[in-house]
Amino acid sequence: MDQVNGSVVTEFVLLELAQSLAMQFLLFLFFSLFYVGIILGNLFIVFTVIFDSRLHSPMYILLANLSLVDLGLSSTTVPRMISDLFSDCKTISFYNCMIQMFFIHLMGGAEMVLLIVMAYDRYIAICKPLHYLTIMNLKMCMTLILAAWIAGMIHAVSQFVFVINLPFCGSNNVGSFYCDFPRVIKLACMETYRLEFVVIANSGFISMGTFFFLIVSYIFILVTVRKHSSNDLSKAFFTLSAHITVVVLFFTPCMFLYLWPFPTKSLDKFFAIVDFVVTPVLNPAIYTLRNRDMKVAMRRLSRQVVSSREMT
Ligand SMILES: *[C@@H]1O[C@H](CO)[C@@H](O)[C@H](O)[C@H]1NC(C)=O
Repeated sequence: MDQVNGSVVTEFVLLELAQSLAMQFLLFLFFSLFYVGIILGNLFIVFTVIFDSRLHSPMYILLANLSLVDLGLSSTTVPRMISDLFSDCKTISFYNCMIQMFFIHLMGGAEMVLLIVMAYDRYIAICKPLHYLTIMNLKMCMTLILAAWIAGMIHAVSQFVFVINLPFCGSNNVGSFYCDFPRVIKLACMETYRLEFVVIANSGFISMGTFFFLIVSYIFILVTVRKHSSNDLSKAFFTLSAHITVVVLFFTPCMFLYLWPFPTKSLDKFFAIVDFVVTPVLNPAIYTLRNRDMKVAMRRLSRQVVSSREMT
């Protein structure tokens, strides 16, 4: 098959999220509020961790990096979702569509590995507390964070190389409000079974495998915590349940979007919104509301900001 000049599709059409003006307005409010919450909440975590030297431990450095990834992940889709709500033609150019897919998977892949790293960090802290400082030193922490970004890069590139050269010549209706591999591949004018399998394996199986791995790891850590019950028990339990909540929230939509063989538009929409809008705003809430150190640090930071403003 000649693929060189096959691409005649120069833009894709995205799905309309709401038909009625009232619904558009409601969604506009909802998404805008959440997106502002995502930006403020996650940036607040990042700055709290950076400026409070008491939080310069691997757990909080990882948390701040997770906040950055969350911020990036929702920025791949939410601003466009908001601006598309009121526009009549919901088209996205071929290259913007490719870029959007690439960044979704770069951020998504990095987030996945970061969640594994955070579980590993808790495993060492709780199951090997005496070796924690030697194993999770700053260098190790930096290496693992770098590994998360490299893994995200490999994950995104490995799908991207297949899609960028596909011939698109027929329908250009993505059938979703953002571009993603499973939907876009279906539009190519050629047999795509094999490619669909690549996408399912690369996104679906990986997210399912990671999910079960993480859940089993956390159960293991929880069992260990119970065995060595000390007064740290409730603190560890809160931290771990926060991590587990985030894992479930992030992976359930992923598994559905990439593995469920019978996509339905309404469920698709719902799960995508959970991953891009709800989870990124819940992360800061979950971590800060349940974490005493974080709350104390945030209060300290806001006091400093207020008092420095009073001085100037
Ligand atoms: C993210 O991780 C890197 C590497 O460890 C660290 O230097 C950086 O401060 C972290 N980012 C934030 C916002 O804490």
